[in-house]
Amino acid sequence: MCGIVGYVGPRPALEVVVEGLRRLEYRGYDSSGVAIIGPDGVLQVAKKAGRIENLDKEIAARTIAGSTGMGHTRWATHGAPTDRNAHPHLDAQDRVAVVHNGIIENFMVLRAELEASGVEFASETDSEVVAHLIAAELARNGGDFPDAVRAVCRRLDGAFTLVTLDTSCPGSIVAARRNSPLVVGVGKGETFLGSDVAAFIEFTRDAVELGQDQVVVITRDGYEITDFTGEPVNGKHFHIDWDLSAAEKGGYDYFMLKEIEEQPAAVADTLRGHLVGARIVLDEQRLDNQELRDVDKVFVVACGTAYHAGLIGKQAIEHWTRIPVEVEMASEFRYRDPVLNRQTLVVAISQSGETADTLEAVRHARQQGARVLAICNTNGAQIPRESDAVFYTHAGPEIGVAATKTFLAQIAAVELVGLALAQARGTKWGDEIAGEFEELAKIPAEIARTLDCVQDVRALARDIASSKAVLFLGRHVGFPVALEGALKLKELAYMHAEGFPAGELKHGPIALIEDGLPVVVVMPSPRGRPLLHQKMLSNIAEIAARGARTIVIAEEGDTAARIHAAHVVEVPAVPTLYSPLVTTVPLQVLAAEIAQARGYDVDKPRNLAKSVTVE
Ligand code: AGP
Repeated sequence: MCGIVGYVGPRPALEVVVEGLRRLEYRGYDSSGVAIIGPDGVLQVAKKAGRIENLDKEIAARTIAGSTGMGHTRWATHGAPTDRNAHPHLDAQDRVAVVHNGIIENFMVLRAELEASGVEFASETDSEVVAHLIAAELARNGGDFPDAVRAVCRRLDGAFTLVTLDTSCPGSIVAARRNSPLVVGVGKGETFLGSDVAAFIEFTRDAVELGQDQVVVITRDGYEITDFTGEPVNGKHFHIDWDLSAAEKGGYDYFMLKEIEEQPAAVADTLRGHLVGARIVLDEQRLDNQELRDVDKVFVVACGTAYHAGLIGKQAIEHWTRIPVEVEMASEFRYRDPVLNRQTLVVAISQSGETADTLEAVRHARQQGARVLAICNTNGAQIPRESDAVFYTHAGPEIGVAATKTFLAQIAAVELVGLALAQARGTKWGDEIAGEFEELAKIPAEIARTLDCVQDVRALARDIASSKAVLFLGRHVGFPVALEGALKLKELAYMHAEGFPAGELKHGPIALIEDGLPVVVVMPSPRGRPLLHQKMLSNIAEIAARGARTIVIAEEGDTAARIHAAHVVEVPAVPTLYSPLVTTVPLQVLAAEIAQARGYDVDKPRNLAKSVTVE
């Protein structure tokens, strides 16, 4: 997720663009840059790694003028957050500039084709290929800029919002979108572009949303939209009713609520491009197939929510590869003498990539000779830098302290690592791996369906907001979900909450059951795990008989789950190993709603930090 701003009009473009980037910094902040076409028709570019303050310093040292320009704040996907990888990216003649939000899945093929034709690349990004491809099209089509952009869009696979400048067309900007947001701001004698309306809301509240596979040309007099073939199409007009703060949160009261809604995209973007033919391809794998084949033990090390993703990944990895998997809190792992060697793969899960305990666990593992694969949401962070291989999730920046979309993205990622291990070891054949990937690829739509039916959860949350405690029960992959639900309630509503394996009830926790106590039960699938489903029905009967207020998260159509349930929250029926991607969602909503009912700041819970870089 990156922030993009474009402007054509009478104002100094630099001011409009930089101010817009500041509004969009929550979308990405590991580097930023601007490109402005000067009065002399020359492209003026400034770009710097780090926060926008660094760009400000770069700009302050320059005189940049012009009324057509664009800017970008980056959330790195391909290529570390450095000056050279910052956007905009230019062609070899500094005629074309491009900023990009998304992932171009076929960029390696395109890059190889361009390099074979003599193009020299200045960055490691996927985005730079677009600048060179547009330049090549301009040379081919005689300089028709919009047509050149459309021709390039037809060659790209993946997700992209592209905003492009051509110094030969100083009064216009050409932009395109596929699977990534782009809106046009319609002013009087000036026109804007933005990843979202926060980019230009202080200048105009009249906007037009671009549809899938569309290209827009903006000038100070307005805009024209076509599809990728050049056929004119109409954009979707709307009036922006939000204030600036709401615009940054997409109209939600809190970033976390917005991020819960972004989970289908977070999982889809994390999966995107990792199945090539019938083979799983990880990111900067740096572990060859033989090394993966030699793995005879896996440790997963992580903290908090990431640890829960590891517990889910364990089930998948052991089931698909028959390799034993231990999941440990990084703070415990690093202070003991684990039995590790060259055949041990340590998977370190961390959305920030900076968590001190997880980082030290990685160092501890490497000192013992193990190989380390990081699963991380932050490109270029310390943990992936110190690992042998990395799998980047693509959830985009997560502003809310409580992890939501990064958690679901971590689950998808660790399951893909499981498939990659199974592929390397041959415990699953190509068609089986492709089949599992295809099942996983259906899940974002099921998460979206789950989000459409959690309204009842909000009412229930308000009803139990004054409870003194809530228990969470689960079995198999439902147990880590129960732990995650309890953690969310602790960190957001400051309420005592505890997750248990349901099979442990009779070994003590059932003594906690008393009249009216809310108990959330994450129900196994009656199809996927019928025996566990039966056991859980007994658990529900036992606690209901002792007065518990049973809140059952059940697969749609599971009529038996209703027998002793005070409340049933239905989620789509999905394969058991992927069910945490849907059963977690109502628990996130429950915790966020209870926190709001209690009057707490959902984005900034007390005592907590987004990244725990100290022990
Ligand atoms: C989860 O909501 C918390 N924010 C916390 O438990 C978090 O998951 C943990 O600190 C690990 O952070 P990391 O993924 O950045 O390593």
